[in-house]
Amino acid sequence: MNRRTVLGLLCLIGVIAAASLTILLKPALPAAERGRRLAELNGCFACHGAEAGKGAPNLGEKDPVPGFAGGLLMMDTPKGASQVRDWLLLGTEGMDARKAREDSLKRAGQGLAPEARTEEKPPALEMPSFRGRFNAAQISDLTVFALAQSQWGVDQASPAVKAGAEAAQKSGCFHCHGPLGLFARPNPGSLKGIVPAWQGKDTEDLVASHDEFRQWVKEGRPDRFAKNKVAMFFLTHEPVRMPAFKDHLPDSVIDQLDSLYYWVRNGQPDWNEAERAME
Ligand code: HEC
Ligand code: HEC
Repeated sequence: MNRRTVLGLLCLIGVIAAASLTILLKPALPAAERGRRLAELNGCFACHGAEAGKGAPNLGEKDPVPGFAGGLLMMDTPKGASQVRDWLLLGTEGMDARKAREDSLKRAGQGLAPEARTEEKPPALEMPSFRGRFNAAQISDLTVFALAQSQWGVDQASPAVKAGAEAAQKSGCFHCHGPLGLFARPNPGSLKGIVPAWQGKDTEDLVASHDEFRQWVKEGRPDRFAKNKVAMFFLTHEPVRMPAFKDHLPDSVIDQLDSLYYWVRNGQPDWNEAERAME
């Protein structure tokens, strides 16, 4: 083989290796994160605040624009997923019109005349209708994002899971991993380029067992990675790192976190199930 062939072959091997590495390390984003990214790209956070945590002041309305963190969404949309979808498709105008129709039907049923329309000034900000702007899969991702942000469904979980959610909130886990560990925000220079979520293929690769979950929480990495130079390079050079909590959390709390982690990893909260339970 002459030098050019060897060089060519080496280049080819390099390209294949780089391509496989990209595919291997490409993160598999969970629905809540896909929705979070869509919401960011489509102006939702202008009114609803960063990650829809806390909304903007809204003149002409006694409350600010709703933020979804802190359980407000659960109170405002007790029907869950279907109601969030309605808000996205109908906006304030469509929701108001539907409510007026339902009220007058109800009054007609009771033999009453429709209520006289009161002329209220609309507030400064209203929820726009996004009908036609998103396909069904995107509406579904946005809905999951909104429900995840409000931790919708965790109140129906077992006491161990609920205790885990409380501990995770207090320990800062949700600040990095998102509410219920469902976001996967960018983290350039890390193993997968994201702070991995607790649901989907990435977490299944990174956490092989309950033991490994405990190692991640206590040491900031599983024992399996400690001798792997490449993994340890990423784990010690990325800007946002998994902290070691061994001096801060007793085993009893780590057990609760484990219950929460596996609950989420195994597909909870199940928004459809929660919706059926409300019917
Ligand atoms: C122009 C400001 C504005 C934008 C942009 C906006 N919203 Fe809203 N949204 C509102 C307001 C105001 C309300 C409250 C409406 C009401 O009570 O009449 C609302 C209500 C909602 C609700 C119902 C929640 C509740 O607690 O009542 C959801 C869900 C929602 N918005 C999601 C979104 C998503 C997702 C996006 C982006 C695709 C978005 N919004 C973009 C202003 C906005
Ligand atoms: C400062 C941000 C930060 C905090 C706080 C944090 N983590 Fe992490 N965590 C990370 C990062 C970053 C990784 C992944 C490391 C990598 O990919 O290089 C990770 C990895 C993990 C993993 C393995 C990968 C995955 O997500 O499935 C688990 C499990 C985990 N963290 C659980 C927790 C728990 C439980 C808490 C709270 C006690 C917590 N983390 C707090 C940043 C954080």
